[in-house]
Amino acid sequence: MTKKPTTFALRGAVCFSTDSSHLTCLEDAYIVCQNGRTAGVFTELPEQFHGIPCQDFSNCLIIPGMNDLHLHAPQYAFHGMYMDLELLEWLNTVTFPEEARYSDLNYAEKAYSIFADDLKKSATTRASIFGTLHVDATELLMDLMEKTGLKAFIGKINMDRNGSKALQEESAVVSATDTVRWLNDIAGKYENVKPILTPRFTPSCSDELMSRLAEIQRAYCLPVQSHLSENKSEIAWVKELCPNTSFYGEAYDQFGLFGGKTCPTIMAHCVYSSDAELSLMKDRGVFIAHCPQSNTNLSSGIAPVRRYLEEGLHIGLGTDIAGGHSLSMLRAIADAIQVSKLRWRLVDDSQKPLSLEEAFYMATMGGGSFFGKVGTFAEDYEFDALILDDSRLRHPQPLNSRERLERLIYLADDSCIAGKYISGNKIF
Ligand code: GUN
Ligand code: FE
Repeated sequence: MTKKPTTFALRGAVCFSTDSSHLTCLEDAYIVCQNGRTAGVFTELPEQFHGIPCQDFSNCLIIPGMNDLHLHAPQYAFHGMYMDLELLEWLNTVTFPEEARYSDLNYAEKAYSIFADDLKKSATTRASIFGTLHVDATELLMDLMEKTGLKAFIGKINMDRNGSKALQEESAVVSATDTVRWLNDIAGKYENVKPILTPRFTPSCSDELMSRLAEIQRAYCLPVQSHLSENKSEIAWVKELCPNTSFYGEAYDQFGLFGGKTCPTIMAHCVYSSDAELSLMKDRGVFIAHCPQSNTNLSSGIAPVRRYLEEGLHIGLGTDIAGGHSLSMLRAIADAIQVSKLRWRLVDDSQKPLSLEEAFYMATMGGGSFFGKVGTFAEDYEFDALILDDSRLRHPQPLNSRERLERLIYLADDSCIAGKYISGNKIF
């Protein structure tokens, strides 16, 4: 049960994005939350709010919550392991065998409880999450995530080809029927978690399955998440599988599963998206989930994020557990900056590295806009906030809030997260 929202204020040093390249940083401010939304950020509390409860976090930094646009809950069980492979071999030898274990609900309960607990303690306030192809285990994951108070889209994966004997749906019909059963089972059941249609990626889904999923997408008005242009061998494989298409994104678009007004879509990775693919993504408003740590671990490459920002594409960050090994979105910000520096130095010196402002924006406002008015402390945005305590990160002289934010991004672990609010509800 979520508590009834009330009007209250938090006081502390405050940092939030105003746009993709600017931060507002205040040394001592009040953020007022009213009915789960930000009513304003003030250096002095206006008279109309005198007398409302005010929690003093004067020693802490208050920032918007982090929105993880892409991660795999079942893969959390092997995060930090099996890092010496590239994508397709990693899927076949590590990922598919592990995901097959989620046919066993006892195993799923143990593994998903750990995942939900750890995500609750992390900097993440909202997330778009892949489950497995199993209906029961995915419903269990939704039950556990609902209880955390975090907001999440969660998808039962569809895969009817190129899996393994233990991890593949029998046919397109079975995959679609199971998806409808899942959607009907959970209809109206949750406040915090919602379903998202999740064709794993083109090599996992037959044309017949994609057509059936498109019908389900329209009938249930579902958002969609998948993978796109992550790895060169994967892209070559999609070319073979879909000879009628001229770029990977078309393999989704030909079925109507690639954005547009009635089909909000997240595509993870987009390391090698062509001009034509990017142009279609822009037209369709497709969100890019940039996953720098995963793209490094699986040697996939470095996405040209500066270009995506300049072209005004929707873009946020993803941890891509367990291609990425860290659940920390603060770490994802630092990773995005670091890989952009390597790209600048080694690949394309015309594309400057990402600034702290830009990477922070992607983790908060950029990804947040997939969830609505989310990701900053502008008026009427949903009040998602993190209280960061940097008192253990000792320093010989006082630092300003921008310096404190940067240091926390590079140095914080979960023990620095002293509090978390989502839509005005205190999570801890
Ligand atoms: N492409 C298809 N499935 C996956 C997955 O589980 N992880 C990543 N990183 N890419 C994928
Ligand atoms: Fe992924």
